[in-house]
Amino acid sequence: MGMEKIMVESSTKIAFILLVTFAITIPCLEAAHVLSPAEIDDFVKARAEEAHKVAVETYVPIPEGVAHDLNVAVHMSMEAEENNTRREMRQKGKKHDGPCEATNPIDSCWRCKADWAANRFQLAKCSKGFGRKTTGGLGGPIYVVTDESDNDMVNPKPGTLRFGAVQKGPLWITFARSMVIRLNQELMVSSDKTIDGRGANVQIRDGAGITMQFVNNVIIHGLHIQNIKAKPGGLIRDSFDHTGQRTRSDGDAISIYGSSNIWIDHLSLSECEDGLVDIIQGSTGITISNCHMTKHNDVMLFGASDSYTGDKLMQITVAFNHFGQGLIQRMPRCRYGFVHVLNNDYTHWIMYAIGGSSSPTILSQGNRFIAPDNGAAKEVTHRDYAPPDVWKNWQWSSELDVFMNGAKFVPSGAPINRKPFKKAYMMQPRDGSHVSRLTRNAGALNCVVGKPC
Ligand SMILES: *[C@@H]1O[C@H](CO)[C@@H](O)[C@H](O)[C@H]1NC(C)=O
Repeated sequence: MGMEKIMVESSTKIAFILLVTFAITIPCLEAAHVLSPAEIDDFVKARAEEAHKVAVETYVPIPEGVAHDLNVAVHMSMEAEENNTRREMRQKGKKHDGPCEATNPIDSCWRCKADWAANRFQLAKCSKGFGRKTTGGLGGPIYVVTDESDNDMVNPKPGTLRFGAVQKGPLWITFARSMVIRLNQELMVSSDKTIDGRGANVQIRDGAGITMQFVNNVIIHGLHIQNIKAKPGGLIRDSFDHTGQRTRSDGDAISIYGSSNIWIDHLSLSECEDGLVDIIQGSTGITISNCHMTKHNDVMLFGASDSYTGDKLMQITVAFNHFGQGLIQRMPRCRYGFVHVLNNDYTHWIMYAIGGSSSPTILSQGNRFIAPDNGAAKEVTHRDYAPPDVWKNWQWSSELDVFMNGAKFVPSGAPINRKPFKKAYMMQPRDGSHVSRLTRNAGALNCVVGKPC
């Protein structure tokens, strides 16, 4: 995989872009950086249009159907695991064999197979929820990161993570060994990639974070990402055929911008300068699952601006995550779209857990919310920029959530539409009392080759 084709932009053009970029004031919208027209060159403009087309195709008119399918899958995987346990108890003296404790339907799709390392592509069949069609680098070559350095943003060195991330076509990126990668600028991940940290302890820390902009179909799995910092920007290769001038990156662990079919799974995320996961500018078809998030203020931002109605396309699943120690707010904070928040464990927050503005639809099912001791922060929910007689119409509903230590979800709006289902076929979510089982292995796993993970 060579990188012979190097686009060299004329220095005059770069100077011009810089001039225009600095001459205008870019409003700081919830700290998520939105591109101004001057920052978008023709190549990126074409890609933005293509990405928007994919987003429109990815959007599902009846999101309740996708939410329902996930509840069915949770029910099936928990029942299978319960049957297993019963069977083992009947076979006297036989203990639960092996360390595999996959209880949720995403994990049970691959974790109990001892050959996971020889069959990494299996993971591409495991996504559920709105990101269910994500296959990442499925069918492409396996690329092994052997070099933790990150010194050339334009012509990354073969063996580095950045080199893999900008290759053409599907690529399945793995790691030769445990390593710490300090990114000098944001890592631009192009379409059809999997970044698969299984089998190594991969820490992306103390530098820039991971950005997906105007791309489709990416899996990010099994990484530790922490202490991500804002970076000044500059010339950065964002794909095989293109290098562009990037302005300052905000310091998000994961930034998803105008992109579709993205699956974020089993990440350990903490202590970043901006957000842990920011999803903005008409992104859709996204699942965030099995992540463990800690020590952070603005955890997840879904939609950066009340004036950007393109986020009505946004459909996101947040499932089986553990929102843990040292978190303050925004788990997530939503605008416009449809967000299914299913079977997560909220053990810590300081201000609130789930919030938003601009009439997002929030379906909260089977979560556990443990409120902080502070009597003023018991409310799970939080609405911005709207008086009650406006937000009373926003559809926010809570079903089978478990509330502890005084936690309180304030619902609003009409019940979320269930029309596509006949009552008899409707699967209830598993209630919030199951989340400690469903999220027990949230965060990056320590998978050992040749054993169930
Ligand atoms: C669990 O066991 C019950 C009773 O034997 C059976 O009907 C059901 O199909 C099993 N479920 C799964 C998911 O294996």
